[in-house]
Amino acid sequence: MTASSTSTNRASRPQPSLAQVDPEVFAAIRHEEQRQSSVLEMIPSENYASRAVIEAVGSVLTNKYAEGYAGARYYHGNEFIDEVERLAIDRAKALFGAEHANVQPHSGAQANMAVYLGLLQPGDRVLGMQLDAGGHLTHGSPVNASAKLYRFAAYGVDRETEVIDYDAMLETARQHEPKVIVVGATAYPRQFDFERARQVADAVGSLLMADMAHIAGLVAGGVHPSPVGHAQVITTSTHKTLRGPRGGMILCDRPFARRVDRGVFPGTQGGPLMHVIAGKAVMLHEAATEEFRQHARQIVANAKALAEALLSAGLRLVSGGTETHLVLVDVRGLGLSGQEAADALERAGVVVNKNTIPYDPLPPTQGSGVRMGTPAITSRGMGEAEMRRVGEMIGRVLRAPSDAKVAERTRAEVRALCEAFPAPGIPERGD
Ligand SMILES: Cc1ncc(COP(=O)(O)O)c(C=O)c1O
Repeated sequence: MTASSTSTNRASRPQPSLAQVDPEVFAAIRHEEQRQSSVLEMIPSENYASRAVIEAVGSVLTNKYAEGYAGARYYHGNEFIDEVERLAIDRAKALFGAEHANVQPHSGAQANMAVYLGLLQPGDRVLGMQLDAGGHLTHGSPVNASAKLYRFAAYGVDRETEVIDYDAMLETARQHEPKVIVVGATAYPRQFDFERARQVADAVGSLLMADMAHIAGLVAGGVHPSPVGHAQVITTSTHKTLRGPRGGMILCDRPFARRVDRGVFPGTQGGPLMHVIAGKAVMLHEAATEEFRQHARQIVANAKALAEALLSAGLRLVSGGTETHLVLVDVRGLGLSGQEAADALERAGVVVNKNTIPYDPLPPTQGSGVRMGTPAITSRGMGEAEMRRVGEMIGRVLRAPSDAKVAERTRAEVRALCEAFPAPGIPERGD
């Protein structure tokens, strides 16, 4: 046998499967599939990516180094990689009507840090949303690199209405004189007024950056006003309401394109995750359909139905309700912390997350609220009738958080509901 025929034989031998190579990881993935299928996934930043997106992310594109941008790479062999990245960029620009798109950020947080690096100098002033009012860690939390590198001040929500007070934002902006104002949040149930925010930014000679990580799918689906045309730079995650792979993306007006691109690479990242960028391209294709627009409308209709059901169950909602995909429940009146409430709900098969509420007396590790959203359960095909049932279940569990019988009965109801509405992207297995 020649050396070459030996190597051919070796190459053509079937490769062992994941189950054979690593039964432990294989089992954990199977268990996670079962968990995701059988619970009400109501963390508002989570969703079920489609089978097509998962297929792209699981492709051989993971093998390729592609530092740089399409047509200007540091490595060879990027013909098809360029094709994928260009498709993603063109689709992002078309979907949101943006002048420029960068699809390389590894995540929403990376996107934010890349923009700061591209637009600011260390020590520059920035204005972001107060953390307990719903702002993200990358909007100036003291424990985050954003606050270590730049001087952040914060605007919040009105104590009474729990809605952003743009006049107060302007006042804070006048005092702080930021170079960039960041508008966007991780736990804010109301729509953002990007037009008003731009007026504030213009009044103090600042740039407006919109972080639409949570609402990007709603913007794409036409059920939340778009920041495009108001914010000069826009960042997002791609795995939340957009229902893509885990990742980030930046849109901006043309004059900022070079600084933004350089902020991503070489500023904060090395080789792009091309398999994930392929998944983003597929997601952008899916998000441009009428079916997705209908889905986005249903997310908001479901959130409103859920809010009504929770209010009927006697719960207090921050700002009194929702205009988006999420509600924030203040659980103090039930004698619970957010942690205790989220634990009780998880025992019943309803997965939410603890969260601070505006002016929260508790630290983020406990929080006085729970944040819950409708994107993932809407992806399962549930509608307003199911939301009314879910709201009733949540009220029931939160009123009897340590009652094992209530948890058990609710868990069974949740399981039945999940069986009636299978999660997309998760193969049905006979085993
Ligand atoms: C408003 C906002 N910005 C940025 C991020 C960070 O996104 P990622 O988790 O993709 O880094 C989040 C995540 O929850 C967010 O809510």
